[in-house]
Amino acid sequence: MSEVNEAVMDKITKVCLCKSISRATIKKAILDGAHTVKDVNAAVGSGSGPCRGQRCGPKIQALIDTMKEEGKI
Ligand code: FES
Repeated sequence: MSEVNEAVMDKITKVCLCKSISRATIKKAILDGAHTVKDVNAAVGSGSGPCRGQRCGPKIQALIDTMKEEGKI
């Protein structure tokens, strides 16, 4: 996927459905230094919805792992 398409998809894809938080917001928090799910949740408010992070927690962890593998953090 091109970088432009990825940026667009990041904006419209919700990682935390309960709190309607986009993948772009989660990625920015990770780039800004939140390198654990707990840190990301504290930074942007994910994980605080009715599911208590059951749905978004694994997706956030996967994003952290991918960004580490890609050398972005
Ligand atoms: S999807 Fe994030 S708290 Fe429920």
